[in-house]
Amino acid sequence: MHFRIALLLASVANAFAYPAYEAAWAEGQLITFPPPLPNTGSILIPDAAHPYMPPGPSDQRGPCPGLNTMANHGYLPRNGIVSAADIINGAQEAFNVDYNFSVALASFALLSRGNVLLDRVSLGLESPLVPPLPGNIDGTPGGLGKHGRFEGDVSMTREDFALGDNVHFQQDLYNNLLTYVANYSDGHIVSERVFQEYRFARFVDSYLRNPNLTFHVGRHGFGYGEAGFTLNFFPNAKEGNLTVPVMTSFFQHETFPQGWFRRATRFTFDGVINAADVVETPHPVPAGAKNASGVYVPDGESYTDTICGLYLNLAGENVPAVLLNTTGMLRQNVDTLIRGVYNIFEPLNCTLVEPSGPAGV
Ligand code: HEM
Ligand SMILES: *[C@@H]1O[C@H](CO)[C@@H](O)[C@H](O)[C@H]1NC(C)=O
Ligand SMILES: *[C@@H]1O[C@H](CO)[C@@H](O)[C@H](O)[C@H]1NC(C)=O
Ligand SMILES: *[C@@H]1O[C@H](CO)[C@@H](O)[C@H](O)[C@H]1NC(C)=O
Ligand SMILES: *[C@@H]1O[C@H](CO)[C@@H](O)[C@H](O)[C@H]1NC(C)=O
Ligand SMILES: *[C@@H]1O[C@H](CO)[C@@H](O)[C@H](O)[C@H]1NC(C)=O
Ligand SMILES: *[C@@H]1O[C@H](CO)[C@@H](O)[C@H](O)[C@H]1NC(C)=O
Ligand SMILES: *[C@@H]1O[C@H](CO)[C@@H](O)[C@H](O)[C@H]1NC(C)=O
Repeated sequence: MHFRIALLLASVANAFAYPAYEAAWAEGQLITFPPPLPNTGSILIPDAAHPYMPPGPSDQRGPCPGLNTMANHGYLPRNGIVSAADIINGAQEAFNVDYNFSVALASFALLSRGNVLLDRVSLGLESPLVPPLPGNIDGTPGGLGKHGRFEGDVSMTREDFALGDNVHFQQDLYNNLLTYVANYSDGHIVSERVFQEYRFARFVDSYLRNPNLTFHVGRHGFGYGEAGFTLNFFPNAKEGNLTVPVMTSFFQHETFPQGWFRRATRFTFDGVINAADVVETPHPVPAGAKNASGVYVPDGESYTDTICGLYLNLAGENVPAVLLNTTGMLRQNVDTLIRGVYNIFEPLNCTLVEPSGPAGV
């Protein structure tokens, strides 16, 4: 504990030692999205310029094995403090994530858990490099690991916030996942069936043990989408199927396996929706949350269980309304990022959603 505090103070002192940092803070960083990268198909990852280096004690890592792995190889800044452009370029290059989908994920990450004026978000928890907005209008950004807006319940390898460690890899949960590979596949290939059963079991576990279970349509969609990510981003394209050693390399060691080739085609938002449906279909689970009496109440009329309902929950309720109460470059960045999220929902005929959520949560 004392060690952590000492580290934090050392980083604060560092931040103030750099005049460039203060100048950037005074002026902000105008956000513009970088252009799409040309798709170079299935290439060997990492290339020579991106060797694995373990994170140092003050480098931020969090609940996303994809982003953690990218940072451990320098496809994202190794300190884990990233800009929207870092995420957009890194995700396309390392995993062949579709351009507009990368833009939307990066935009939601910044709006929900970053500093939108400075164009920075921590992959893990709080960092002195990502200070609160002027006037502290939304409290401390916290980073992608902060529970409630992006990070949520019913993860595959992290505990629910109310039950344990919601940020770091949990070996016991992963060992349990491996028993599903043994029972529902051949112990080596991680098939769709494995996640169809495991994802449902994770919900049942949270339903039984977590009195604070919160699984609204936004988090519900991400939860199933992330199982789809595992099946569609993690396989070595040279092998086709996802195998246990490859999956372990990403989840447990957060490094690309030796001789790993990324997928050949871009994985689009449509692809994610289909993959999430495949995982949920055998055991459908209603989106919802437990109320103060501990009853699991489906979202029902609050958010319809549709893609546009998911968008309303994420871009509305999970982004603070106070961001609209701003001016100048801060407001310009807010508008750019709102648009960045909308890019993937506009083709699905959803109406533009503005932030409507509470501040400081
Ligand atoms: C591009 C921007 C991305 C952002 C902003 C992002 C962010 C996040 C966050 C905040 C979580 C935690 C959600 C939770 O479980 O509570 C998460 C989970 C996850 N992410 Fe990402 N992610 C991104 C890309 C990727 C990519 C490219 C992959 C795969 C290559 C990936 C794989 C996963 C998986 C498998 C989980 C679930 C972990 C678990 O349930 O234990 N993500 N992501
Ligand atoms: C669980 O919910 C109760 C009631 O809303 C709240 O007082 C408590 O702080 C929550 N606990 C956690 C760990 O979220
Ligand atoms: C897998 O099979 C073993 C042996 O039948 C059983 O003990 C275990 O509970 C099963 N696990 C799952 C996740 O089904
Ligand atoms: C993938 O695994 C399935 C069995 O789960 C098998 O039928 C198929 O041939 C495998 N494909 C490759 C490319 O190994
Ligand atoms: C929780 O939901 C149940 C079922 O709808 C309801 O009977 C109960 O009054 C609710 N509790 C609270 C505190 O809203
Ligand atoms: C926006 O600012 C006005 C004027 O200061 C204030 O009354 C209002 O509550 C603020 N709205 C939000 C969502 O913070
Ligand atoms: C991104 O989305 C926008 C809005 O839906 C669309 O006009 C554009 O063609 C898309 N760009 C790419 C590279 O997919
Ligand atoms: C969106 O609306 C347009 C115009 O009405 C229609 O052609 C298109 O099929 C709709 N797309 C979806 C996904 O519903």
